[in-house]
Amino acid sequence: MHRSAPASHDLLEIAVEVARQAAATAHRMRIDGVSTVATKSTVTDVVTAADRAVERQVVDALRQARPTDAVLGEEYGPGGGGPAGPGGVRWIVDPIDGTVNYLYGLPYCAVSLAAEVDGEVVAGVVRNVMTGEEWTATAGGGAHRAGTRLRCSTETDLGQALVATGFGYDPARRAHQARVVAELIPHVRDIRRMGAASLDLCLAAEGRLDAYYEKGLAAWDLAAGGLIAAEAGLRVAGLRGRPAGPDLVVAAPPALFEPLHAHLADLDADGGP
Ligand code: IPD
Repeated sequence: MHRSAPASHDLLEIAVEVARQAAATAHRMRIDGVSTVATKSTVTDVVTAADRAVERQVVDALRQARPTDAVLGEEYGPGGGGPAGPGGVRWIVDPIDGTVNYLYGLPYCAVSLAAEVDGEVVAGVVRNVMTGEEWTATAGGGAHRAGTRLRCSTETDLGQALVATGFGYDPARRAHQARVVAELIPHVRDIRRMGAASLDLCLAAEGRLDAYYEKGLAAWDLAAGGLIAAEAGLRVAGLRGRPAGPDLVVAAPPALFEPLHAHLADLDADGGP
């Protein structure tokens, strides 16, 4: 049976509603007190009861709204349902991006929810759990926060650029990432490591950061924030013509992309463990 692709704005409407309820749950659970319930890839890669509860809530809400869609989540992996075939929708959820900040009560963590159609992200929302700030985008429809269309930084000089990045959980990878950042820092205004990739991308979308790069992002870290950044005018890509992905995500305004790319390529930012 042929399915016609759902409109991006309809998917965004569902995403926003689900993300708001999810963020409310995460916020309430933070006030009630939070502790680590398990570790994942390393001892510092934690999962809290809230990560799990919020993801369950998101999956259940999406099942109610669109029962045949697939869902990929950070904590439980691929849910049932199947998007295969034309017009198929897959939702990608990070229930709490910035889990370590959440654990420590730092106000920089978010629910990130995106909808893909035929493998392309077409709608996304990122909502800061602590502050309620919310960024949205649809493919071709622009990126917005609080009703305002977002435009990335107009900075053209890398030496004046405030650049965010992040580090993975594996010690060997972190050591490589630290070497890259140590060599990059003399060439930029400064570096920020705030601890939630989706929010870094959203801040870059509104020029509160000039650019962002990171190795090792998973689909749920990148999906919604990557669309929001791209729709705000940032170039979002990997190195040497590759698409943005686990090897590297570089998100920079067009004028900063090439100089930042040149440094990152020289420093083998997408290499190492
Ligand atoms: C992490 C955060 C962090 C980034 C890591 C991510 P999580 O996601 O986005 O900023 O540096 O690469 O894994 O584990 O908090 O969902």
